[in-house]
Amino acid sequence: MKGSDTEHLLRYADLVEDMSAFLEAASRPLPRVVWPNPLKADPQEITELILVRCPRARPLSWPPGACLVPAEENPGKWPEFHLGLIHCQEEVTLYPVFAMAPRPGEAILDMCAAPGNKTVRIGLATKDAARIVANDLSWQRLRALRDMNDRLGLTCIGVRRGNGLHIPGEERFDRVLLDAPCTGEGTSRKSQGWIRHQKKGDWNKLSGLQRGLLRRALNLTQPGGLVIYCTCTFAPEENEWVLSGIYESVARMEPLELPEGVRTTPGVTDWKGMRFRADVVHASRFWPHQNNTGGFFLAALRKL
Ligand SMILES: C[S@@+](CC[C@H](N)C(=O)[O-])C[C@H]1O[C@@H](n2cnc3c(N)ncnc32)[C@H](O)[C@@H]1O
Repeated sequence: MKGSDTEHLLRYADLVEDMSAFLEAASRPLPRVVWPNPLKADPQEITELILVRCPRARPLSWPPGACLVPAEENPGKWPEFHLGLIHCQEEVTLYPVFAMAPRPGEAILDMCAAPGNKTVRIGLATKDAARIVANDLSWQRLRALRDMNDRLGLTCIGVRRGNGLHIPGEERFDRVLLDAPCTGEGTSRKSQGWIRHQKKGDWNKLSGLQRGLLRRALNLTQPGGLVIYCTCTFAPEENEWVLSGIYESVARMEPLELPEGVRTTPGVTDWKGMRFRADVVHASRFWPHQNNTGGFFLAALRKL
């Protein structure tokens, strides 16, 4: 990692337990999870196949049949990928849908859905039997979502292009995922040098949009429903500050369900003179050195 990237991440020194392990992990290439598509393949057979294609792959306890493959592998070129038998994605990006725990028959909105990695996981978690609306601002990115949907053979996802701030209608969803546009500092392992392009103040530029999207997400959720908020950034301005824009009478933060063994640190209640809602401690911060993943932030809000 370049010196300027390191300098940037030093901003978080008081939030990280082991700064040198963090910096070292943040510059290492990122392994990926290859998971079987249960609509088209038997998970156990797919594990065996992955181990033939990549003997260095490591089977995971979740999702069923999945393996972690080293960064040098490119499963997107395997024939099984094109046949829709497998898909691959970064491990940490699987956690929002695990925490959401969607069920068959529910109405679910993915507010910033493209290119669709989390949308298809929602579809599969509900056995292709939920009613899912996948919204995004970008046509081009939605094309990738449609392709992924077709390749995996899901039928339960409807796609709409539009600004999440202005999604119309009276419908209230059981669950909403807001995977918000963010500065993406946690993706340094995927795209080295990315952090260098950031300017001071970028965090504040996006946090207004993130707050607006979260407010709309809660408007669109029925009482008792769940909103999952996540970003791939470390900045409290884009995480705890955004959550603190919600009145306590509108939603409460809940502890997160995560796969066994995943290590996180809690959301912070104050940072650099800013004070946040007390229940942001239920949110989770994912640091690259804790689980050998990208950086991430995840929170669950129960609509009151
Ligand atoms: C972090 S990415 C989403 C990744 C996606 N959930 C996935 O797992 O594949 C954020 C997305 O927000 C979209 N976006 C940005 N501003 C938006 C807005 N105002 N309304 C809806 N989508 C927006 C971007 O086009 C981008 O696709």
